[in-house]
Amino acid sequence: MNTEEKIQQAIANPRNMGEMADADAVGMVGNPDCGDMLRMWIKFGEKDGRKIIDRASFQSFGCQTAIAVASVATEMLRGKTVDEAKSLSSTELAEDLGPLPPMKIHCGQMVEGALRSALEAEEKEALAPAKAPGPDPGNLIHSFGSAPKQAGKLKVILDPPSNEPITNS
Ligand code: FES
Repeated sequence: MNTEEKIQQAIANPRNMGEMADADAVGMVGNPDCGDMLRMWIKFGEKDGRKIIDRASFQSFGCQTAIAVASVATEMLRGKTVDEAKSLSSTELAEDLGPLPPMKIHCGQMVEGALRSALEAEEKEALAPAKAPGPDPGNLIHSFGSAPKQAGKLKVILDPPSNEPITNS
């Protein structure tokens, strides 16, 4: 099966799509060039004394490739430690689909950006003093285009518009 066929298969049955009500962290990223956006929720757990990603989900106003990458990436993230997840490149997150065509590489980078945004939000939360619960962050439509929000343990980080590609750090 080639990459295009795998993308079509992933879109036909996307995994982990939708908001996660009990998420520990949420990250969001948008691409100003194509106008697509993606939000990722993460729920952490513990295994053998290590903090791991128990599950991840996503919501997308993106192209089919972004949805397909987010689907396979959220499956792959299950059981990974934060450090392992941070080390994953967009290519690795999309590995199950095969190499993306050049025009679609940014779609995978958007998934990587949403993941990093969520992980960074969780790190900031771990360092920050406890906060009182805030209002419900609402759904994706209401969140896009608005200022960063905090609601209890949920954090929405809206990346500033940038033409710079997402890079591994
Ligand atoms: Fe922009 Fe796919 S075309 S995310």
